[in-house]
Amino acid sequence: MTTQADPRRQVWSAGSYDTHARFVSDLATGVVGWLAPRAGERILDLGCGDGVLTEELAAAGAQVVGVDSSEDFIAAARARGIDARLMDGQALDFTAEFDAVFSNAALHWMRDADAVVRGVARALKPGGRFVAEFGGHGNVAAIVTAMHAVASRRGGDVGLAHPWYFPAVSPYQSLLARYGFTVQRIALIPRPVVLKTGIAEWLMLFRKPFFAQFGADADSALSETVELLRPALCDADGHWTADYVRLRVEAVKP
Ligand code: BEZ
Repeated sequence: MTTQADPRRQVWSAGSYDTHARFVSDLATGVVGWLAPRAGERILDLGCGDGVLTEELAAAGAQVVGVDSSEDFIAAARARGIDARLMDGQALDFTAEFDAVFSNAALHWMRDADAVVRGVARALKPGGRFVAEFGGHGNVAAIVTAMHAVASRRGGDVGLAHPWYFPAVSPYQSLLARYGFTVQRIALIPRPVVLKTGIAEWLMLFRKPFFAQFGADADSALSETVELLRPALCDADGHWTADYVRLRVEAVKP
């Protein structure tokens, strides 16, 4: 029997990510500062990607485990010497073994946020902290709107324009409270990001399944999206800026 790959599924390439999205880990100084990793702590990096940040936490003297659902990312993280495990963040399999769970730019890919927070609560020791940053309400709004318009015009699947979870502060606070967390601090942070390699590369890296649905017309759907976005996101010098908004949170399990 042959297994068919799901065309709607986001597939990661550690190489493309390094070329077009290195800014994601470069911009994590703030959330790593909130985590303030200490020597000897056991930390779970949830959605560790290629392990660049995991390595940074380990350099602070923490014992770090990384999990990610992408085989390519896990291979890249292991190549850095990280204890990286293939695991869906919506089905974490740890019980009371971490001093902290950390996550950067990953939780917006996990739409079952309830399952994520339940797994984080279970993975933490009493007194453990959950420190995360990911896309918040309004994240990449112009980009989503442009793809939505292109799908509507072309009779495509508009759902493929927005596969993410971008919560506002209040619902995320409520979700954390449901699993017994005490929120120490939480903020929605506008974070415009200059895309050094351009918007078309961003779209193809992060939303390839959206364009693939148009088959032979994928390139023209991509060009149409780029032109819709140009007035909002491209400056007079041709530099593109993505309209990122982050939700950053620190919560403690009593
Ligand atoms: C983000 O990091 O906010 C993000 C990345 C890719 C797609 C959507 C959001």
